[in-house]
Amino acid sequence: MADSPLSAALEFARMLTAGGLRLDPLDSAPSIEDIRRLARRRLPTMAFDILDGASNHELTAEENVSDLREVRFRPRWLTDISTVDVSTSADGQALARPYVLGPLGLQRMIGGEGELGAVRAAGTANIPFTISTASNWTMEELAEQASGPLWYQLYMYRSEQIVSNLIQRAKGIGAEVLVVTVDVPLNGKRYRDHRNGMSIPPRITPRNAVQAIRHLDWTRAIMRPPTIGFRNLKDEIQGDNAVSHQEFVAKHLANLALTWESIEDVRRQWDGPLYLKGILTPEDALRARRAGADGIYVSNHGGRQLDSSPSSIRALPLIADAVGDDMTIIFDSGIRTGDDIAKALAVGADLVSIGRAWGYGNAAAGEKGVLRVLDILDGELALAMGQLGATSIAALDRSFVEYPEAWHGHGMHRAPEPSEVTEEFTP
Ligand SMILES: Cc1cc2nc3c(=O)[nH]c(=O)nc-3n(C[C@H](O)[C@H](O)[C@H](O)COP(=O)(O)O)c2cc1C
Repeated sequence: MADSPLSAALEFARMLTAGGLRLDPLDSAPSIEDIRRLARRRLPTMAFDILDGASNHELTAEENVSDLREVRFRPRWLTDISTVDVSTSADGQALARPYVLGPLGLQRMIGGEGELGAVRAAGTANIPFTISTASNWTMEELAEQASGPLWYQLYMYRSEQIVSNLIQRAKGIGAEVLVVTVDVPLNGKRYRDHRNGMSIPPRITPRNAVQAIRHLDWTRAIMRPPTIGFRNLKDEIQGDNAVSHQEFVAKHLANLALTWESIEDVRRQWDGPLYLKGILTPEDALRARRAGADGIYVSNHGGRQLDSSPSSIRALPLIADAVGDDMTIIFDSGIRTGDDIAKALAVGADLVSIGRAWGYGNAAAGEKGVLRVLDILDGELALAMGQLGATSIAALDRSFVEYPEAWHGHGMHRAPEPSEVTEEFTP
């Protein structure tokens, strides 16, 4: 009996896959940019923009990526690269690779299981996962799913009691590192979110109804209990219904009176490594050290806070020169390839924190998507190091890169020479 067209088609698909053809676009996605495209296809605009968007005209967000492209490699051929070791350590923690998954809040807004799949993926890959204070699951719920190291990111809210409780809870879940984000005294204005009428929890309105119907998986996921919100604060703040993100933060959380003394206070409450996230000047880096921080994130929050801040990579050389080996420098903002990781390390970072890149994976395919992102980054980093002739993380220094001299402050209005930088530096 002749095959039906359907069984013939199925047989053909079987033959193709047996021959190595991958039908899942995730498996064949060669780059983070491809994963980003998958995420975009899977999400309504409002949800994709929460992840992809940045503040105001998104100048800083764009430059984070384009300035990393300004860094060029200087390969050293004919080096024995039979072994390329990407393991490293920071403040007593052994790390399988020189990067960690950074804090991304609001992951249930992009559908699926939110942060749950990502924390499982991090465990599988044995990479530290940074739980955000703004996560849509409590830190305890996330810790239950974790099998790898956890870091905790703290927002310094107005209430000292809330902050102390969060620190105690972070200790309770065994977080190894406390990351205090200092660049959100006010929440950046994100035009895309405003245009899209973004709210927490998300609401289906006449404006986004068609998109919600076209992305039913997403719509079902966001409707599932518990209601999407700032779940780490569920016992502290009774959730408003559908207020804008900015309004919520301003009303309940923003601490406009925050100063360096508050960091000294946190230092007294936390014995493990303490890193400040969002540093963009040597002055603040040196001040962070005096406040007791063990490390800093050179970061502009992925361009989501003060637009027209310098790209992170542009800010890195002066800061690295100023702090020397005295502090751990973590780099984030704009990392989209393993090459970018190698560049940031070569310019002066000790570690890199991954932001949107893992968010795109999570949005594209949850746990599996995050694992695919890690796979891509691991492969690209090893490839870049091998081609450079850098066989260990310690070996990756500035001799492997070139970048604009202006990033050392030369020719820029009021930027100090590294030797002139002190905490008291006033332009
Ligand atoms: C959707 C989203 C949520 C974020 N949430 C937080 C957060 O809760 N806390 C925090 O310190 N940073 C947060 N960030 C900033 C990231 O930790 C990181 O600094 C930024 O994404 C780095 O830039 P990149 O995405 O270009 O790599 C968030 C970023 C995104 C895209």
